[in-house]
Amino acid sequence: MRFAVFASGQGSNLQAIIEAVQKGVIKSELALVFSDNHKAFALKRAQAVGIKTLCLERKDYVSPQSYDRDLLIYLKEAQIDFIVLAGFMRLLTPFFIKEYYQRILNIHPALLPAFKGMQGIKDTFTYGVKVAGVTVHFVDDKIDHGPIILQQAFKVSHKETLESLEARIHKIEHKFYPKAIALFVEGRLKIRGRKVTILERSASPSVAKDAVDQKEFDSPEPS
Ligand code: GRF
Repeated sequence: MRFAVFASGQGSNLQAIIEAVQKGVIKSELALVFSDNHKAFALKRAQAVGIKTLCLERKDYVSPQSYDRDLLIYLKEAQIDFIVLAGFMRLLTPFFIKEYYQRILNIHPALLPAFKGMQGIKDTFTYGVKVAGVTVHFVDDKIDHGPIILQQAFKVSHKETLESLEARIHKIEHKFYPKAIALFVEGRLKIRGRKVTILERSASPSVAKDAVDQKEFDSPEPS
């Protein structure tokens, strides 16, 4: 299997994914890093380790549809089987999502369905919740909405600042996203409606075995 990571900014999650591929945690080829922003540091991270990059800027297209049509041509050329969104700030069109139906993963820095949208961490902090977290989910045609793969929650202390909360969330994301991607690659995610069941590891990914609890994938609470 070959996959692409889509990123618009820093790319710290991309870095974690690159390392997980290098260590063999994700047994799939990261064949392309795509961005909608030529200034994205994520592109530099990919180039530094020799991963092919592609950048298409929205301003060069007449419509989101024409942009996504072009993008699909590049993805087909690169034989991309699935897509991982890691801080990708552009909405994909329903037409694009249909082409990669149940083959696009996203990470959101909050416990969905709470705090959807671009400012998940800031909104979590401002709301004053006592429990925050991270969600990895499949992408569907509504924002931050598709079936949930994994979630990790942690307690928010009264001493928390926006910066400390951000740091804790990123630390979890960097462990958590590679795990979720590995589950997908191993064929261990079974989707029925909104419910995603995680199957036990099996010699052959096509053999459906018993479901396992998410606990197996939880990382310890960061200090
Ligand atoms: C992450 O917090 C992710 O949850 C959100 O965008 C941020 C991207 O950070 N979707 P980075 O570019 O991976 O550092």
